[in-house]
Amino acid sequence: MVTFNATVPDDTTPASALPTPAVTPIAVAEGDGIGPEIMQATLRVLDAAGAKLDVQHIAVGVAAQARGFSSGIEPSAWGALRRTKVLLKAPVSTPQGKGLKSLNVTVRKALGLFANVRPCRAYAPFVRTLHPQMDVVVIRENEEDVYAGIEHRQTDDVVQCLKLMSATGSERLIRYACEYARANGRRKVTCMTKDNIMKMTDGMFHRVFEEVAAEYPDLEAEHLIVDIGAARLATRPETFDVLVLPNLYGDILSDVAAELAGSIGMASSANIGAHVAMFEAVHGSAPDLAGKDAANPSGLLLAAVQMLAHIGQPSVAARVHNAWLRTIEEGVHTPDIHSPASTMRVGTQRFADEVIARLGLEPTHLKPVRYTDARAVAVSTSQAPRPTARKELIGVDVFVHFREPQPSALATILKPHAGPAFSLQMITNRGVMVWPDGQPETYCTDHWRCRFRPAPGNTAVRPQDVAALLARFAAANIEFIKTEHLYTFNEVAGFSLGQGE
Ligand code: IPM
Ligand code: MG
Repeated sequence: MVTFNATVPDDTTPASALPTPAVTPIAVAEGDGIGPEIMQATLRVLDAAGAKLDVQHIAVGVAAQARGFSSGIEPSAWGALRRTKVLLKAPVSTPQGKGLKSLNVTVRKALGLFANVRPCRAYAPFVRTLHPQMDVVVIRENEEDVYAGIEHRQTDDVVQCLKLMSATGSERLIRYACEYARANGRRKVTCMTKDNIMKMTDGMFHRVFEEVAAEYPDLEAEHLIVDIGAARLATRPETFDVLVLPNLYGDILSDVAAELAGSIGMASSANIGAHVAMFEAVHGSAPDLAGKDAANPSGLLLAAVQMLAHIGQPSVAARVHNAWLRTIEEGVHTPDIHSPASTMRVGTQRFADEVIARLGLEPTHLKPVRYTDARAVAVSTSQAPRPTARKELIGVDVFVHFREPQPSALATILKPHAGPAFSLQMITNRGVMVWPDGQPETYCTDHWRCRFRPAPGNTAVRPQDVAALLARFAAANIEFIKTEHLYTFNEVAGFSLGQGE
């Protein structure tokens, strides 16, 4: 039974604490492009399968923009999400390289949907794949990393993007991944980072992984550098089980994994938070396919299956998923997965009809699925607080826009303004030491990082010293564009070191 637009209780209890309701209120967003048609197909299957849902439609994406909400979400939708705690969302269009922030990213972050769970399973021999044994779940961090979207142009030549990662955010995600692995009978969790290069950001994610994984001795834990990890995923995906990844690597590798398994058109995604969860297809809004009844609704349908398990309707989840598996193995395929193994080429709505016709059946070749109540997976927000470190200011990096290519010319200009608190220790250009030592071949752009450490005899640097340094630079028309304080935390440097330090 799917009813529409009924009122729903307004409280902020986590979904995981609720008893199974007779009817679960959910919000539904039809999205853009192929969104409305795959949503219609999905809701028809859910209804026929006996899902007990009370659907409230909300406008997001182009529909909301057309109503004058430039953020792409109508303000009343937030209230609906807070009340229902569950959103089934079709794809919305994301502007590339310009325009407003992505709505997907805004919703994930605004509602604290910290874990993005993306199962990628092969359906061989019915759907073409190079890796018939593949059955990987990508669990992607969903709120941090370069997705903070904090970017600046600082000089004529250079732009920057901040990669922000927190220990608490990393821990919560990694803990969720381990709990997920345990609850779903998975044996191994693999973390991938690039901590040979990003020793502080990725290094922290890796370290937290080691710490948390040690609490799950029943799970095999492994870490791979993400480049070789991605290569192994592409060539030997059957050696992986659950992957836990920072946001950007997770974005990239979940598309890779979905395509490897069969088609990104079948990949689904659950965005899990402590209070709200959002379920969506991994693919985009495919505007070129819109209105043609040709899109594969499977990604959204399987996201709805994840949703049913999450809201405490696991038997309906299994009923839909098994009917879908049966449909796929009988060769009833949409154009995107059509192959010589197919028996029938169908459009979006006909595919839904074929799934509905098989409700109650299980696959006979592919492995049938069973679901337990996914609310059993702990969404841990009560982490032990991280201890506060003894933090000491020991210098400052001042970034300068300087238009001549000679580092020694810049050093000559800076040095007279460094004292009394500081002396100029080194200059790097795009992270390469160019002064006092350097190689004549190094190409220098107009963006220089100038590191100031305490002058001889000065034992304690104060914030006032940094402000005074900058005031002297301003008076001398030295174009500083940003600063980063150099701190130690319990005597350990909280910054990357230059060569020779
Ligand atoms: C995804 C998408 C989004 C992302 C885009 C649409 C913002 O690629 O869900 O993987 O980058 O997270
Ligand atoms: Mg993506």
